Amino acid sequence: MRVIDLRSDTVTRPTPAMRRAMAEAEVGDDVWGDDPTVIELEAEVARMLGKEAAVYVPSGAMGNLVSVRSHTRPGDELFIHELAHIVVHEQAGAAVLAGVQTRMLQGAGGVLEVGEIASRLRDPSDVHHARQSLLCLENTIGELGGRVLPQERLAELAGFAHENGLRVHMDGARVWNAAVASGRTPAEIAAPVDSASVCFSKGLGAPVGSAVVGSADFIAVARRNRKLFGGGMRQAGIIAAGALHALRHHVERLADDHRNARRLADGLRAARLLRFDPEAVETNIVIAKTTGSPAAPEIVEKLAEAGVLCASLDDRTVRFVTHLDVDSEAVDAAISAAEPVLS
Ligand SMILES: Cc1ncc(COP(=O)(O)O)c(C=O)c1O
Repeated sequence: MRVIDLRSDTVTRPTPAMRRAMAEAEVGDDVWGDDPTVIELEAEVARMLGKEAAVYVPSGAMGNLVSVRSHTRPGDELFIHELAHIVVHEQAGAAVLAGVQTRMLQGAGGVLEVGEIASRLRDPSDVHHARQSLLCLENTIGELGGRVLPQERLAELAGFAHENGLRVHMDGARVWNAAVASGRTPAEIAAPVDSASVCFSKGLGAPVGSAVVGSADFIAVARRNRKLFGGGMRQAGIIAAGALHALRHHVERLADDHRNARRLADGLRAARLLRFDPEAVETNIVIAKTTGSPAAPEIVEKLAEAGVLCASLDDRTVRFVTHLDVDSEAVDAAISAAEPVLS
């Protein structure tokens, strides 16, 4: 049976050209700062994001954690949406490893509102209060279907944060998808924020790695914290070469993933057990809601038996993600296999 894996855009395998680039990569010891491929990757990603510097890290979670730690001191407080990846999927790392209290906010569609932050600002001279030092945003917004954070809102939130002494970090694991979907460059998107973490191992299809970008001073601190968290790597050029190849060859093609995601949602729009909304699909993530019973985990199991792999986010929500290893023909095959299960 043919299996089409739509669980996540992290399931991709390196392409033959990417494997070649990795096999031929020039390497050094990156902890000593002399791996030429890592240096090249960091320079390229900093340029693409319009920031002074970048540091290569093993994962998106470490990119966020290093950023939180580098912007704050233990005892600080950060503002963030309650459905952000940092909150839902990173094991309270900000509390455990950076000593930072998380102030979780709501906001329709995963988008925070300035008023929500404004009403929670505290008098810093009052000894009772945690220092409020950071606002974390996410773009695209993963848990809510790969939505692009509207740029005007991003700029408004960052502007308000800066006026009130907060730094701004953006979890841009899928900023490349946001750029392709919105027609903006990654640098335009990241212009209002102080730091961003970006991933090479999601839609771009590299096997490992993320980067944190920001000012040169900030990245010097982030580089220290990467080492603190055990993220210093040696001949990392081998994996950095995969990331460089991905940056140079796999960004524009994300438009195919976006088209395929919409094609999937459209093709299953008549499904009885799950409700698809093709209009809501902005990038490569399709969220479908159950219409009654069975619950989402059971539907996911039945789809897996039919060769369509996807994920349940909770009892009512199923997620499908398109990526480099799934072309339009595979999406059509997934629709054909899923239809009888869902109707
Ligand atoms: C929005 C977002 N941020 C951060 C991460 C963490 O990336 P990693 O799995 O590389 O730690 C993910 C992973 O899927 C993500 O979707």
